[in-house]
Amino acid sequence: MTTKIIAHRGASKLAPENTMPAFRLAHELGSDGIETDVQLTKDNVPVLIHDEHVKRTTNGIGYIKDLTINQVKQLDAGSWFSKKYAGTSIITLEEFLHWIKPKPLYLNIELKNNKIDYKNIETIVYEMVKHYQLLNRTTLSTFNPNSVKRINKLHSDIKVAFLTSRNKNLISYAQSLGANALHVKYRLLNRLLVEQCQKANMKIRVYTLNRPSRILKSYALKCDGIFTDVPNIAQHYRKLFKE
Ligand code: G3P
Ligand code: MG
Repeated sequence: MTTKIIAHRGASKLAPENTMPAFRLAHELGSDGIETDVQLTKDNVPVLIHDEHVKRTTNGIGYIKDLTINQVKQLDAGSWFSKKYAGTSIITLEEFLHWIKPKPLYLNIELKNNKIDYKNIETIVYEMVKHYQLLNRTTLSTFNPNSVKRINKLHSDIKVAFLTSRNKNLISYAQSLGANALHVKYRLLNRLLVEQCQKANMKIRVYTLNRPSRILKSYALKCDGIFTDVPNIAQHYRKLFKE
């Protein structure tokens, strides 16, 4: 089994996170998959941005939940990263799915509903993934345990991962929610956890790994996947690891 390299917010060390340049680069650098974060606009359009507020990664202010899609589309989501990316816009989930559909990439769509519990985000995202016939290579994930339960209850034909940085009866808790994967913070990673996941038939993926030593540890433990901002470095070490 080969550990999958999943570009975290795209190749986000090299281009502005969660934008088309970062996704294109992730693909060009040979990532196996892409992780992205979804929030809902005021008019219920799923858009790709990590924070609830636009301040850190755009030239605007305000919460995504208070802006319409037209307002969101006016924002510059590239200049904060580098002048080279001036004029890059926030994209919708639909634009992303349309782009990724013909490419052989795995998708992890993280619902950002642990701080704002966006109404129906699970169904809105699920229906769009289904419409693009991408159910078989998509995992939805969230830090919100109630949302994991809702996905499992309403849409049992999509894979769902419980995201966590806390370690308390992790596997049995994730199973009780109906998750089929655990996405854990690196500090929780150890051999026992990986073995327990394998026994429980639960996938284990780890975030966010940029240092070679951490990347190599995940390969050695045979994790199912790693989230990294530097898929080029992860590729380099995976080749060395196999030789
Ligand atoms: O999905 C893995 C990782 O992205 C979770 O944390 O804050 O980077 O979205 P965050
Ligand atoms: Mg994320």
